[in-house]
Amino acid sequence: MKKPAVSVVGLGFVGLSLAVLNAKKGFDTCAIEKNVNKLKKISSGVPGFYEPLLKNELQNAIKANKIHFTSDLREILKTDITFLTVGTPSSKDGKIDLAQLKSVTTDLAKVLKEKKRKHLIVIKSTVIPGTTENIVSKIFAHLKNIVVVTNPEFLREGNAIKDLLEPHLIVIGEYNKKDGDLLERYYKNFYKKLPAVLRTNRTTAELIKYANNAFLATKISFINSVANICQKIPGSDVDTVAYAIGKDSRIGPLFLKAGPGFGGSCLSKDLSALIKFTKKFKDSVFLFEAVKKINQAQPLKILKLMEQMKLFGNRKTVAILGLAFKKDTDDIREAVSVKLVEHLIRKNLMIKVHDPMAINNFKSIFGDRISYHNSIADCLKNADCCVLLTEWDQYKKIKPHDFKLNMRTPNIIDARRILNPKKFLHLNFKAIGLGR
Ligand code: UGA
Repeated sequence: MKKPAVSVVGLGFVGLSLAVLNAKKGFDTCAIEKNVNKLKKISSGVPGFYEPLLKNELQNAIKANKIHFTSDLREILKTDITFLTVGTPSSKDGKIDLAQLKSVTTDLAKVLKEKKRKHLIVIKSTVIPGTTENIVSKIFAHLKNIVVVTNPEFLREGNAIKDLLEPHLIVIGEYNKKDGDLLERYYKNFYKKLPAVLRTNRTTAELIKYANNAFLATKISFINSVANICQKIPGSDVDTVAYAIGKDSRIGPLFLKAGPGFGGSCLSKDLSALIKFTKKFKDSVFLFEAVKKINQAQPLKILKLMEQMKLFGNRKTVAILGLAFKKDTDDIREAVSVKLVEHLIRKNLMIKVHDPMAINNFKSIFGDRISYHNSIADCLKNADCCVLLTEWDQYKKIKPHDFKLNMRTPNIIDARRILNPKKFLHLNFKAIGLGR
């Protein structure tokens, strides 16, 4: 069976990962991005952001001559399937901003007037239920060769390549069976063994993505609420509680890691969009609002611990280990680090930071208001408190001795629960969800 030619519009972490893996799987791939500076970088083999395995896969795809990069939307005419992976950010009031999606689909509709064969448009961007039905398909309604399906993705940053190669489920939202068959056929071509596929209508597919992210966010806010109780009860530990309840198969062990609150560009954005969207159905919105509020308040727990350590008032120095919103990414969007540093600057503390990947992104926000360090030891030097904020593997290896040797006063706050508290009994060690 001849493989269809594929185009991907919008080269963020989802679009670029998808494009290079299509090339890897032997599909002729056209990767389209309107930001020409970004495009230039990518076409020279540099993704422009850190995502494990991506740079390598990008360079392989370029070498194999299976991918080409352009900012010209007309190139989709040479392809059979177009994946739309443009951003759907939050607008100021939390509502989803569909401007990019509307503009790109309007432009695509103009280009696709010339298409004589069938063309499949796949909406991968996260969009509020009803968007494909009521907005996107109306834009293509006058073009009889165009088929629009919804196909939400569940990739995690830091795991994008692996998640794409081994998805837990492929959700296909279709107008009718024939439309969905087109996308399923493509996936049969992509995977040696087709993963589980769920076929549904387009609006349900869109809602599945929001329900998925909202549930993950709920699990995190739930365990953070338990963590906050633990902090008030001497001797209790949220990690033990999470382990025990995670053993109950009705609950499951994942996404029960207490911490400083969830960050990243997806969970908060999708939660806010869902809240705005469900406001009209009054009764279902309370839970989502609570999840969001708990998350907004969670970074303040770190300030509370710092207050107990008497760090405010006389120009003390704080070392922050970890700036990225989670490990294996350089992304600091909605990261707790940004919120925390803003608070600490207002409190007049000296701030030193370390992160294996996210320093440059952090510099673009905080400039010379704080100091940046390439080694953990440098960052800890003469600090009065160390806050562990991202669960990078290298931080898990830090020993009590490293803190003692380098810091002025070894006050430690493990906001990610990556260190074993029992090993730190002789230091002033505090952690989220640990009653002392
Ligand atoms: C999330 C979803 O997990 C993906 O399935 C989805 O495709 C993606 O959003 C998206 O909509 O594009 P991502 O934002 O990459 O993926 O990050 P997560 O792994 O979900 O982590 C989000 C935040 O929650 C991080 O700050 C992480 O540290 C935190 N977290 C996660 C916890 O605090 N505790 C946990 O137990 C798990």
